[in-house]
Amino acid sequence: MKLIGTNLLKPGEKLASAVYSASGKVIVNEGIVITETYIDKFKKLSIYNIYVDDDNYDDIELVEAISIKTRAQAYQAFRQVYDLFHKGKSFDEYAIVDAVKQVVDEIISKGTTSISTLSSMVIDNYLAGHSVNVCILSILIGNNMNYNFNQLLDLGVGALIHDIARREESKESIDHIQKGFEVIKRYRGISLHSSKVIYEHHENCDGSGYPRGIEGGSISQFSKIVSIVDFYDTLTLGSDGKPQMLPHEAFEVILAESDKRFDAETVERFRNAIAIYPNGCVVKLSNGQKGVVVTQNKGVPHRPVVRIVEGKEIRKDVNLITNLTIFIEKVDVE
Ligand SMILES: [Fe+2]
Ligand SMILES: [Fe+2]
Repeated sequence: MKLIGTNLLKPGEKLASAVYSASGKVIVNEGIVITETYIDKFKKLSIYNIYVDDDNYDDIELVEAISIKTRAQAYQAFRQVYDLFHKGKSFDEYAIVDAVKQVVDEIISKGTTSISTLSSMVIDNYLAGHSVNVCILSILIGNNMNYNFNQLLDLGVGALIHDIARREESKESIDHIQKGFEVIKRYRGISLHSSKVIYEHHENCDGSGYPRGIEGGSISQFSKIVSIVDFYDTLTLGSDGKPQMLPHEAFEVILAESDKRFDAETVERFRNAIAIYPNGCVVKLSNGQKGVVVTQNKGVPHRPVVRIVEGKEIRKDVNLITNLTIFIEKVDVE
């Protein structure tokens, strides 16, 4: 399979991986032949990338960070608690804790370290989608840092509810931090380590953040992780049939802020946890050749292994770690 931008899809291609709704149900089956109607549907559903069949790349593995079922459960738990929170009602905080436990369990047992941040689950609620993404990626980074189960759980819970007080329609402001922290700290099932993430996720290491403008040394490690992931996810979640930024573009923005807005060591951990050119991604190399990313090199996300297909037969896998003069110039080329 290979991954191509919805904008470049052509009728006649075959869908290589099913598309799921936010409740975890299949909405478009694997194997269907893509028509103009499907392309429109994908665009309406804000699906920016699609896996299609391609014999040259049938060995490429699609690596989702966690199963659709677990992702959907976390999503539903967030929505349920979010609604009650904004109605001023009390909620069962263990719904959140249990959902995150499941995510942690899966990430630990799969041993996944380097993943694509794309998912084949379609979100129907921006904030819920964002919160779940931030939760999963934060746990992956924590796992790369060898956190134990309880640390991963605290980190994941904080990440999932970091924007719990944010109103869907409004821009982020100081209110969502204060209100979120005030309410959540009353819940005994949520640790102070988790609720601190709500309070600190907009603080920056150089002191330019809010609400307190504190510096790196005073910001908790959990908050440092969540603030990077939060920013990354905000940069990549798009609208109108296009991602706002591609993963590698968002990654560049984060790198540029390393040792300024973001803690340099945590940026390194982030680098180890993500695949900015996901498996299957179509790329153009600096030597003019076109290829498809087949595997990742851990810790060097900008230098994966790329398969070159010239004509029908000739194949060559180029490992960009050992071919240092070649680099990826463009993504999704046609
Ligand atoms: Fe926020
Ligand atoms: Fe956020």
